[in-house]
Amino acid sequence: MLDILRSRRSIRCYKDWKIEPEKIEQLKEAALRAPSSRGINPWRFLFVTNKAMLQELSRAKESGSSFLKGARLGVIVCANADESDVWIEDCSIASIILQLTGQSLGLGSCWIQIRNRAHSSSISAEDYIKKVMHLPDNMLVLSMISFGYPDEDKPPVPREQLEYEKILYG
Ligand SMILES: Cc1cc2nc3c(=O)[nH]c(=O)nc-3n(C[C@H](O)[C@H](O)[C@H](O)COP(=O)(O)O)c2cc1C
Repeated sequence: MLDILRSRRSIRCYKDWKIEPEKIEQLKEAALRAPSSRGINPWRFLFVTNKAMLQELSRAKESGSSFLKGARLGVIVCANADESDVWIEDCSIASIILQLTGQSLGLGSCWIQIRNRAHSSSISAEDYIKKVMHLPDNMLVLSMISFGYPDEDKPPVPREQLEYEKILYG
């Protein structure tokens, strides 16, 4: 696990290689194995591979989402907020589990923040996605995770750069 954490970086450039269906199945399994508060599992995961749809979703925000159009898979992580008051935590855990599983499968990924972000001055990124994907009102969107085979080289962050001063002792 530490090796996966050491090598993981946010990857925003992808090769135009298809992701094997077995790997997509493994990502689905990983998402569904995420722990959630009280085991309620309020999340829903929308797996999007259609290129036209990825292109539309890449316009969710003015900046920080455009690279989704070059990805081969996007996973929209959302939840029915009526099911749990801690859906944000549950969806965050599932999002990072998806990313780390992708890393273990040789896939690059990046978290695209949707909650509390704007599409434009009049519409939120969440509402934009809900409209594109025809999601019901009670479905709240936390993130989109982009996936693809990396087309950029990012070295691991060296250990000396880790902010050990943020480790406190009691
Ligand atoms: C909660 C969260 C939200 C993020 N939102 C975005 C985003 O909207 N767009 C983006 O390009 N990267 C986003 N990132 C990726 C961060 O920019 C990235 O993780 C950070 O700069 C550290 O770089 P690294 O992942 O390569 O270690 C997000 C990461 C997290 C954890």
